[in-house]
Amino acid sequence: MATGSRETYGWGIVGCGVIAPNHAKAVQANTPRAKLVGVCDVVPEKAEALKNQFGAEFATSDLDALLARDDIDVISVCTPSGLHSAVTVAAAQAGKHVLSEKPLDITREKMDAAIKATREAGVKLGCVFQRRTSRFNQQIRQMVQEGAFGRILLADLSGKDYRSPAYYTTGDWRGTISLDRGCLMNQGVHAMDLYIWLVGQPVVEVAGFWDHLARDIEAEDTIVGTLRFANGALGSVLFATSLSRRNLPSHIGIHGTEGNVIIGGAEPLVERNGEKVDLAGLIAPRGQGAIAAADPNAPPQGHEFHVKDLIEAIDQNRDPFITGESARTAIDVILALYEASDTRRVVRLQ
Ligand SMILES: NC(=O)c1ccc[n+]([C@@H]2O[C@H](COP(=O)([O-])OP(=O)(O)OC[C@H]3O[C@@H](n4cnc5c(N)ncnc54)[C@H](O)[C@@H]3O)[C@@H](O)[C@H]2O)c1
Repeated sequence: MATGSRETYGWGIVGCGVIAPNHAKAVQANTPRAKLVGVCDVVPEKAEALKNQFGAEFATSDLDALLARDDIDVISVCTPSGLHSAVTVAAAQAGKHVLSEKPLDITREKMDAAIKATREAGVKLGCVFQRRTSRFNQQIRQMVQEGAFGRILLADLSGKDYRSPAYYTTGDWRGTISLDRGCLMNQGVHAMDLYIWLVGQPVVEVAGFWDHLARDIEAEDTIVGTLRFANGALGSVLFATSLSRRNLPSHIGIHGTEGNVIIGGAEPLVERNGEKVDLAGLIAPRGQGAIAAADPNAPPQGHEFHVKDLIEAIDQNRDPFITGESARTAIDVILALYEASDTRRVVRLQ
C-alpha cells in the first residue's frame, strides 16, 4: 500500500506521449520528495524514450508490472483521455495514489468509477488543471467569492483556435467520441474549467449545439452553449479549433453589478465601481495558456505545483488542491452541452 507519508515518493508515469515530459520534469523539480521510478506505454519505444530522457529506472508496456512495484507510490495518468479512469481504477486497486491529467475522463460513469475507486482504496486522486494554479486566477476567484464585483449577472467564454487536419492524425484517439471527444473536451477544457471555477456557482441548465464543420473527426471542432448558473446569472460558451488561424483573441468575461473581469487577452481588465483593481505582484495569464508569477521565489505553478500539492496531500492526509469531484465540475457541464445538442433539449444539471 502507498498510503502513509514517505521521505521520497516513487513516481510512475502511464502514457509516454506529448504531456508525459511535463510530469517527469515536475517530479524532478520536486526532488528529493519525488523520484521518477518507472514509465509505461503500450508502445515500448515511447516508454523507453521517456525513461532514457529522464533517467527513470525502468520502462514497460505492461501496466500490471508497473503497478506491482513496491517502490512506486504515485501514478501520473497521461494516456488518452477516455482511458484515464481505467488506469486510475487499476492504480487505486494496487494501492497507488493518482495524479490524473485533464479531463478526469469523458463520461459520467467513468468519472464516477475513478472517484469511487480512489476513495474506497484510501488513496489520493489529484487532478491537473494548471490554470487554477495561477495566483492571478486564484485572486480573481477569491474576489468573485467575496462579492468584489457585486452579484454576478453574466459570464462568457470565447475560445477561437486552430488545429490542423494533420493534428488529428498524431494519435488514433484524437477527435474520437470514445477516447477524446472534440475541441471543448480536449483543448477548451482548460478554459471551461477556469471559467466555471472563477464564476464559482453551479451550472443548473445548459443548451447548445456542437458540430464538426471543418475537420474530418467524429466529435466537435466547433461548439456553442448557453448556461444558467445557480445564482441566476447567464453564461455563454463558444469554442472552436476549426478556424483558419491559431490563437485568435479569446477571453473569459465575468460581469457583476459592481465590476467586470475580462482575462485572456494581452492586458486583463479587472475593475470595480469604475476603478481599475491593482493586483500588485501578480502577472495575468497571457493568452489562454500562459501562467506566471512576478516573484521568482513564488510558489510553483503548473504541473510542478500539482506534484508538490499531491505529495503534501499524502503527507498531511488531506484532499489534493483539485479533487476528482472538483475536476469533474466543468466536464459535467460539457457533457450536458453535448446532450443538449444531441437531444435538442435544455439539460438540467441539478
Ligand atoms: N495539462 C495539459 O496542458 C495537457 C496537454 C496535453 C495533453 N493533456 C492530456 O494528456 C493526455 C494525453 O495527451 P497527449 O497529448 O500526451 O497524447 P499522446 O497521444 O501524445 O500520448 C498518449 C500516450 O498514451 C499511450 N497509451 C495509449 N493507451 C495506453 C495504455 N492503455 N496504457 C499505457 N499507455 C497508453 C500512447 O501510446 C501514447 O504514447 C490527454 O488526456 C490530454 O487531454 C494535457
